Amino acid sequence: MTTFSFAGADIPAEPGQSIGAALLAAGYRSVRTTRRDGAPRGLFCGIGVCFDCLVVVNGRPGLLACVTEARAGDEVRPQEGTGRDHLAC
Ligand code: FES
Repeated sequence: MTTFSFAGADIPAEPGQSIGAALLAAGYRSVRTTRRDGAPRGLFCGIGVCFDCLVVVNGRPGLLACVTEARAGDEVRPQEGTGRDHLAC
């Protein structure tokens, strides 16, 4: 068992488990918000096709929670918009 953080909460994960699977097991249904409307989105396909599960991992936006392995100590947060909005001028 390992642990990573999501939006400041400690999330347990089994070795080899994806961030998305661990979040679902912990009860999270939304992992990001949409660019235009800020609507919540969560895992949909679960196989890296739909891009509904984008998260920011250790400051890197655009990672797919459903196919990204959870690693001990990772800091994961929901992706809001593009995940790069703070860089816009
Ligand atoms: S849930 Fe579809 S790409 Fe992750």
